[in-house]
Order: sequence, then C-alpha cells, then structure tokens
Amino acid sequence: MAAPSIKIVDVVKTFDGDKVLDGVSLDILAGKINFIIGRSGEGKSVLMKILTGLYQPDSGSIFYGDKNLTTARTKDWNALRRKMGLLFQDGALFDSMSLGENVCFPLWFHHLASPSEARKRAKTLLGELGLAEAFFSPISSLSTGERKRVALARALIMEPEIVFFDEPTTGLDPILSSQVDELIVHAQKKTGATVIVVSHDMAATLTLADTVTLLHQGVVVFNGTPKQLSQSDEPEIKLFLSAVNLEN
Ligand SMILES: Nc1ncnc2c1ncn2[C@@H]1O[C@H](COP(=O)(O)OP(=O)(O)OP(=O)(O)O)[C@@H](O)[C@H]1O
Ligand SMILES: [Mg+2]
Repeated sequence: MAAPSIKIVDVVKTFDGDKVLDGVSLDILAGKINFIIGRSGEGKSVLMKILTGLYQPDSGSIFYGDKNLTTARTKDWNALRRKMGLLFQDGALFDSMSLGENVCFPLWFHHLASPSEARKRAKTLLGELGLAEAFFSPISSLSTGERKRVALARALIMEPEIVFFDEPTTGLDPILSSQVDELIVHAQKKTGATVIVVSHDMAATLTLADTVTLLHQGVVVFNGTPKQLSQSDEPEIKLFLSAVNLEN
C-alpha cells in the first residue's frame, strides 16, 4: 500500500468542559512532511492521539485513504498501527528494557523480523544517531537527548508508511537537532512515508515542511506552504511568528 492521505473532518474534543479541539478539519498530504504548529496547550498532542486511535473524538471523523477510522474497532486500529511509527512527546520508552530492546520492540511485537535481524537493523539506525555503542544501556541511564533519539529510532525501525513525531527535537542541542531533522527527511525520502511532525522549532518548520498547519483556539487558522506562512498578513499568524522569533 502506498502511504495514505489522512483526512480530518470537523473533529471536536473536550476535556472537563474545555473544548480543546473545536471543529478541526484538515487534509494531511500523502507522502509529504506535514508540520503542525501552535502555542502550548492548543491541542497538537491531543490531535496526534486522536489520529493514532489513542483518544476518541467527541464528534467528527478521521479517514485514512477511503477508510473511516472514527468508529473502528481496536482490531482495525492495530492493523493500521503496524504501518505507523510513533514518537510521543514524552518518549514513552519502556524502562524495563534496554535501549536496544526498546528500538527492536516494534519489529518483535509485530513479528516483522527475527531477533537477530531486528538487532542488526536497530544497530544500523542507532549508529546514524550516534548511539550504536549504547545498545545494552538501561533507559534510566540516558540523558533527555539520548531518550529522544531512542524514541526516534523506535519510531523509524519498521520503515513505517505513516510516521508521527511529537516534538522530535525539543530538548536536543542544535547539532543533534539538525541530525534528527536530517534523519527525518532521509527516512521520508527513502520510504515515501506520510510524515506528521508537531514542532515548536520554526527554523525546522520553514525548511523541512512541505505543508504547515497552525492550530489556534481549537481550529485550523492556517494551512499552506512554509513560504505562504511566512508571507501571511493574517494578524494571528503574524503574532505567532513574531512571538516565536522572539523566543529563538
Ligand atoms: N487526558 C487528558 N485529560 C484532561 N485534559 C487533557 C488530556 N490530554 C490533554 N488535555 C488538555 O488538552 C489541552 C491540550 O493539550 P495538548 O497536550 O494537546 O497541548 P499541545 O498543543 O500539545 O501543547 P504543548 O505544545 O505544550 O505540547 C491541555 O489543556 C491539556 O491539559
Ligand atoms: Mg504537545
């Protein structure tokens, strides 16, 4: 199957009476790098969790290609997850496993490679991230930046058709950040995957994204190319970009 497009139609999600997503509609482009940006607490991670079936929307629909996943059962989501790579904002690594086992886990779990083949692939990927020597290290011994790179390797190990990265470079130094950015672009080119990146890094957004979506107050206030974003005259977009520039 080719990387699917993803269609989000009028998605609403409320927590404790607070409407975090208030009718989000968006087309995620197949085989492209799609960035989602917005201020803290605007619901970017919630949207990612809805797109990966971890949260149910209150209303609205999610389509992968022609398939409506909104009312799908766990079995259907699990079938889709075999094609997905996920990097959660907090890493969500398994503390009981070594660094290498964390990276191999998706291949073992989905029976996609023998243990030795999985280890070989994990070591190659970890080598690209400067972590080849740390294969047997416990997760508790890792720095924030190392954990982030392990989570990245785990997301990419299956060469997934759809990849979700929630803030893949937050907490990394500038050199590691650009290595991770390069790896994301390299992985996307190699596999033609549909990539969704949530990021606060405007430099990466403007250089890596094929398309950018700005979430604000529960809705999409911009969707277009990085060039269109930086040239926009919309007051909300200009305010957001100037605030981000001040931060960086
Ligand atoms: N499981 C939950 N229960 C209650 N509230 C939640 C839950 N998950 C998210 N929220 C709330 O939804 C809002 C949006 O959260 P979300 O994590 O999506 O923000 P974000 O845009 O990813 O922010 P950041 O850029 O800081 O990561 C927040 O107010 C958060 O407290
Ligand atoms: Mg978040």
